[in-house]
Amino acid sequence: MNILIAGNMGYIGPVLVQHLKNNYPDSRIIGFDIGYFSHCLTTTGPLPEIMIDKQVFGDIRHFPDELLEGIDVVINLAAISNDPMGKTFEDITLEINYRSCINLAKKARQAGVKHFVYASSCSMYGAADDFPKTEEATLNPLTAYARSKVFAEKDLQALARENFLITCLRFSTACGFSPRLRLDLVLNDFVAGAITSKKINILSDGTPWRAMIHVKDMSRAIEWASIRARENGGTFVAVNVGSNAWNHQIKTVALEVQKLIPETQVSLNEDAPADKRSYRVNFSKFEQLAPDFQPHFNLERTIKDLQEGLTGIGFNDPHFRESSLIRLKVLNRFQQKRILDQDLSWLPIAASKT
Ligand SMILES: NC(=O)c1ccc[n+]([C@@H]2O[C@H](COP(=O)([O-])OP(=O)(O)OC[C@H]3O[C@@H](n4cnc5c(N)ncnc54)[C@H](O)[C@@H]3O)[C@@H](O)[C@H]2O)c1
Repeated sequence: MNILIAGNMGYIGPVLVQHLKNNYPDSRIIGFDIGYFSHCLTTTGPLPEIMIDKQVFGDIRHFPDELLEGIDVVINLAAISNDPMGKTFEDITLEINYRSCINLAKKARQAGVKHFVYASSCSMYGAADDFPKTEEATLNPLTAYARSKVFAEKDLQALARENFLITCLRFSTACGFSPRLRLDLVLNDFVAGAITSKKINILSDGTPWRAMIHVKDMSRAIEWASIRARENGGTFVAVNVGSNAWNHQIKTVALEVQKLIPETQVSLNEDAPADKRSYRVNFSKFEQLAPDFQPHFNLERTIKDLQEGLTGIGFNDPHFRESSLIRLKVLNRFQQKRILDQDLSWLPIAASKT
């Protein structure tokens, strides 16, 4: 199997590549990434990209057609990938997450690629904690990031064909350890706070609902989408990916971390404005379509995984919310130093103040 992964050098990419190489040792994997977070490593081991057969640095906004020659599966992870970044870089978010994704899919179809896998998001359900959302529920995208996912799915649907299967995986909020860990994700933030300062500062009043999934389980879902038969979902399918057992209120998640990392104090922000993201998700369709690819990790196991990973690298930065493990901080700093321009394109080295 020849696989191209766009956006492979982020949080999910390295875990996915390891998973695919473990399960398909003969596969050939090409990585394509602009490299915004290439230096944001949380491993004492070698660079994750040594597992890849070929790493290409480039911008998905100018994707080179020739990389698609002989490719069977395209997995698109390249994105401005959370709400705070989407708010700061609204137009660029649409350009990268939506328009560039559609262009990539068109080129992939033209090149004879058989499977196109898009990393979508449950955030398109917005603020709606009345009942767990199925795929048929009304979408309520409240942020630029969520809108980019809705637009991409809609246009992708029109591109699917008998010999070009498209799968949009509407992921829950990711969590779990990775060689490029992110601490701008709720559970990862809680565990990092508990480890470094014995404190969890919940930014909301703790009531919002959030569905979560471990990065290793995301990788298993991507594997399913890369190999599924047309009979299993049709030429186009958008499916919620997570587990019905993993819909929790934020305060429940914090209390579980406190239980496993004792003496941790939990503080709520009762005065915080209502969290825009609060929804429960129904994962029955994913259960039915992919019974052999269901999530393995639960909350307890994920907290232990994060704890082991962070202590394993000697992580002890109590100011991690300002660190390079927060994606928006990384992009802001590159812009301040004139390494990235206003469009998030790399500037020539001479323009940067190093
Ligand atoms: N992490 C989550 O909670 C979550 C949940 C649902 C869906 N997703 C989606 O999964 C995908 C991967 O998420 P992640 O957490 O690994 O994100 P990430 O931000 O860690 O990684 C995204 C990667 O895309 C690359 N990229 C960004 N713009 C690019 C461009 N113009 N050209 C080429 N590469 C570019 C970045 O350099 C980065 O390596 C994203 O589409 C994201 O929206 C993530």
